[in-house]
Amino acid sequence: ESTLAAAAAQSGRYFGTAIAAGKLGDSQYTSIANREFNMVTAENEMKIDATEPNRGQFNFTNGDRVYNWAVQNGKRVRGHTLAWYSQQPGWMQSLSGSSLRQAMIDHINGVVNHYKGKIYAWDVVNEAFADGNSGGRRDSNLQRTGNDWIEVAFRTARAADPAAKLCYNDYNIDNWSWAKTQGVYNMVRDFKSRGVPIDCVGLQSHFNSQSPYNSNYRTTISSFAALGVDVQITELDIQGGSAQTYASVVNDCLAVARCTGITVWGVRDSDSWLGANTSPLLFDSSGNKKAAYTSVLNALNNA
Ligand code: G3I
Repeated sequence: ESTLAAAAAQSGRYFGTAIAAGKLGDSQYTSIANREFNMVTAENEMKIDATEPNRGQFNFTNGDRVYNWAVQNGKRVRGHTLAWYSQQPGWMQSLSGSSLRQAMIDHINGVVNHYKGKIYAWDVVNEAFADGNSGGRRDSNLQRTGNDWIEVAFRTARAADPAAKLCYNDYNIDNWSWAKTQGVYNMVRDFKSRGVPIDCVGLQSHFNSQSPYNSNYRTTISSFAALGVDVQITELDIQGGSAQTYASVVNDCLAVARCTGITVWGVRDSDSWLGANTSPLLFDSSGNKKAAYTSVLNALNNA
């Protein structure tokens, strides 16, 4: 096959990208994205600050622009993200306790209901675990509402849209030996054992010199999958753009049946949140295929 989406589809997987609403007028951007990818994540447009700028007043203008572009071009959509310590609107940042808890529930209901039946998987909770060696939760206003905030978020999302897969999504949970990975693993195991509705774990997979790809990545994927959840690679980028590392990531996903798809966090290097100079993506800033692109395509075709 000659595109990432078609090559991934040979094994029933998807290959996706983050899409920014502000770039949908860029024909080079949309033609590459339309040709190569069959899953879309809104890079910012479905986040809390974008969708509920004032309490109780939802705004889906830009989220719908990304959603409609995707669906009109035959792609599915991952929803990102419903509950997060970051990119909260000012009104939410200033809440605490039971009023914040209720605002979180209301937000999840408002957004999930708007897209009910239309989303492949929601990143219900994003980045709730602490960096470093504790393996525990990240301190945040949401965490301070009580340790059960994550399961409340998942139960609320399930009730609002029973058709969407519900994911926990985080970075630096790709290295199996790291405490943060183990902390998330223990939470997912606990959720499965108690019947808290969770269907998938998103490994963001932002690889750089501080948190490089590790050969135990495949162990991480298979270990989460063995808990009875799907695993998705949700925000892949590799600083330096190593073609060999890209191939390893793809091969590790392909080796685990429940690794259902891969999303890269942008189209061209110039679209990356990291800046084009780190060369993290599969297309250069002129839209040309990079060595990493060919490496990923070959890995998908050789599965
Ligand atoms: O749109 C405004 C613009 O009007 C303003 O002039 C400009 C000035 O700073 O900011 C623009 O908004 C920026 C937005 O990206 C769109 O470019 C925000 O400041 C900036 O904070 C925002 O960054 C996003 C970041 O999440 C915010 O946390 C990145 O695009 C986005 O790639 C990044 O994505 C996250 C995932 O959601 C979660 N995992 C990590 C990943 C990378 O940080």
